[in-house]
Amino acid sequence: MAGLKKNPETKHMTRSNKKNVLLLPGDGIGPEITHASRMVMDWFEKSGRTAIDYAEDLLGGASYEKHGKPITDATLGRAKEADAVLLACVGGPKWDKIPFEVRPERGLLAIRKGMGVFANLRPAVVFDVLAGASPLKPEIVQGLDVMIVRELLGGVYFGEPRGIETLPNGERRGINTQVYTTSEIHRVARVAFELARKRKKKLHSVEKANVMESGVLWREEVTKLGAEYPDVELHHMYADNCAMQLVRYPRQFDVIVADNLFGDILSDLAAMLPGSLGMLPSASLGAKDSMGRQAAFYEPIHGSAPDIAGKGIANPLAMILSYAMMLRYSFDQADSADLIETAVQNVLKAGVRTADIAEKGQSAVSTEAMGAAVVKELSRLGG
Ligand code: NAD
Ligand code: IPM
Ligand code: MN
Repeated sequence: MAGLKKNPETKHMTRSNKKNVLLLPGDGIGPEITHASRMVMDWFEKSGRTAIDYAEDLLGGASYEKHGKPITDATLGRAKEADAVLLACVGGPKWDKIPFEVRPERGLLAIRKGMGVFANLRPAVVFDVLAGASPLKPEIVQGLDVMIVRELLGGVYFGEPRGIETLPNGERRGINTQVYTTSEIHRVARVAFELARKRKKKLHSVEKANVMESGVLWREEVTKLGAEYPDVELHHMYADNCAMQLVRYPRQFDVIVADNLFGDILSDLAAMLPGSLGMLPSASLGAKDSMGRQAAFYEPIHGSAPDIAGKGIANPLAMILSYAMMLRYSFDQADSADLIETAVQNVLKAGVRTADIAEKGQSAVSTEAMGAAVVKELSRLGG
């Protein structure tokens, strides 16, 4: 292809299969980490490794400010048409008092639901060089590589009935409903079993079957599905115990599958094993259609970090690593994803740290400087 640099070791996209990616910078630190991530994306475009058309749109508070709602039909339409969507983060105190239905977080839930991305993959990997940045002892987290598969479209996040009502005696009552069907459990558990099969063949299914009927059903259905995966060692664990075990001995885990709420909480907990929320990417995937197309939504697991927004000090690596996941899962470019992950590790090894992962004696660099350092290392590694 004219203009595409040849590299025999790299699988390139060509113009004939040019991809469309929708970028959603969102709120808070979102635009800052998007800027740093785009430096990396631009490097891949310029070096000819990718051929992607990027479009940007509003989600969350940014959309609310312009349109009075956290997501418009047009944005959802664009998201559904794109080959992949990459979000930074949404939310912030500015929108904490507005009606629930138009809060930024509702935009995020709506886009996940609208795109049908039911399996949220949240890897927690401790790069050797960052073991010292973890609040846990290095010997506990060293070599950690856990994949949390969080169910993303069901459970208490979406269950009906929901709401706040006033009882005849004047007391108010808040209601949410935890609900799962067999098919919802099977489709996410299948993703987890398949992933485990390609990894260390160990799956922990997490619920609270000791107190919740939906947990009993979850355990029974995962067990049934497990019959199709005799090569995968299946364990069941209560969610509270799982939280404790993740801190006590996290390396016992390979893949964890959990419902929407437990998966949300456990993945924030797991995010501190590598030392910062600012390091953890995620990929949310839907079912493949008859053409083999799969809806895919990528986002860091962290939020909009209002406490540091606008200061230029946020860590952009979770978003950069989410972009790497996009190349790996949506565009079949494992070599490019590996390249990014290696560049990130080397940069960290060289002592380049944003404030959240700086260790004693290390001075912190800005968001943009971290993006630039990754680009420089990519150039050194990849030419
Ligand atoms: P948060 O993840 O925004 O922040 C928690 C802590 O981690 C803060 O101290 C923050 O400074 C730090 N942090 C997060 N990302 C960081 C990064 N990239 N670099 C350095 N430090 C980072 O969680 P929160 O404070 O509970 O929520 C803030 C807002 O974000 C809320 O409105 C919440 O609803 C929203 N939120 C959005 C998402 C998302 O868009 N996917 C996820 C979680 C929370
Ligand atoms: C996440 C966030 C979201 C969630 C919120 C902001 C809706 O915490 O992506 O982990 O709970 O799913
Ligand atoms: Mn969360």
